[in-house]
Amino acid sequence: MSSEVQEQFPQIISVAEEVRSASPETPEEVEQFRIKYLGSKGIMKSLMGEIKEIAPDQKRFYGQAVNQLKQEVEARFEELKKTASAKQKDEAKQSIDLSLPPENRTLGSRHPLSIVRNRIVGIFAKLGYTVAEGPEIEDDWHNFTALNTPPDHPARDMQDTFYIQQDPVVLARTHTSSVQIRVMEQQDPPIRIVCPGRVFRNETISARAHCTFHQVEGLYINENVSFADLKQTLLLFTQEMFGSDTKIRLRPSYFPFTEPSAEVDVSCFICKQKGCSVCKKTGWVEVMGCGMVDPEVLKNCNIDPEKYSGFAFGMGIERIAMLKYEIEDIRVFWENDIRFLKQFRSAF
Ligand code: DAH
Repeated sequence: MSSEVQEQFPQIISVAEEVRSASPETPEEVEQFRIKYLGSKGIMKSLMGEIKEIAPDQKRFYGQAVNQLKQEVEARFEELKKTASAKQKDEAKQSIDLSLPPENRTLGSRHPLSIVRNRIVGIFAKLGYTVAEGPEIEDDWHNFTALNTPPDHPARDMQDTFYIQQDPVVLARTHTSSVQIRVMEQQDPPIRIVCPGRVFRNETISARAHCTFHQVEGLYINENVSFADLKQTLLLFTQEMFGSDTKIRLRPSYFPFTEPSAEVDVSCFICKQKGCSVCKKTGWVEVMGCGMVDPEVLKNCNIDPEKYSGFAFGMGIERIAMLKYEIEDIRVFWENDIRFLKQFRSAF
């Protein structure tokens, strides 16, 4: 606006400045702005009305100045209206409706093999056993030789073992017994460990067998460890695992790394020994192998067999899980079918 206006009609200038600095934000505030300046009783109307008081020779000039200001106010109003409504739309997009019902979030559940492994480890933890782990890719020494498995032993058959390299031998471990060697090589007795882990065998996949499965190996080495200690430990474990009325039966068996060796059966917890398909009407189900650690194995790990003795045991996690949950096909553990998996809910 010209300096002439400034000098002669300072009221127009002050309204113009007020309008420029006004910053209504919400649509309501913008409406207030409109009423204040452009409404029927608004400031622009009263500026127009004041023309009566203006000296006749200046009326024209005054009228032009007020009109110019009016156009400016109208343009400003349109601009403010646009910004306010855009902002309101934006906010509506972001705003959260607190009255909406919460989204139904389904919690996942642990894999049955994890549940069973945790349960096994938890029971032995109460007896002072700690967890030890070892590599899935092993050498011949830890998987076979140190475990007193001679080179011509059937367990070394190409059919059972996945060899990765021949010379020197590198293989996928066939059992978690390899971990007991690794621990005994590095630790002095007393040793009390459980070794959960994945193992591999070159087996045809069927309802009963898989080429990849899981085991838990156990090992206790100390002075004066006896077969009675082994039996008592396994009784306690099986009663915690399968129920307090569980009985065990040890059948003589053979493993290269234990002497004597035994196969452990538990009284059938499904039919209570009345005879069912799980125990094949015998009343007993086999759950693991065990024995007193062969003195040769202790020697291989630089542990004095004159001073120390110990026991070891090994069980398949799939087998225990299949018995516990009455699962008939081992392949379901690998299928990741959500309908199977979501049946397992556990605090573990
Ligand atoms: N390593 C054996 C297997 O894979 C299981 C086993 C049997 C482990 C007897 C042991 C044991 O420690 O004493 O079949």
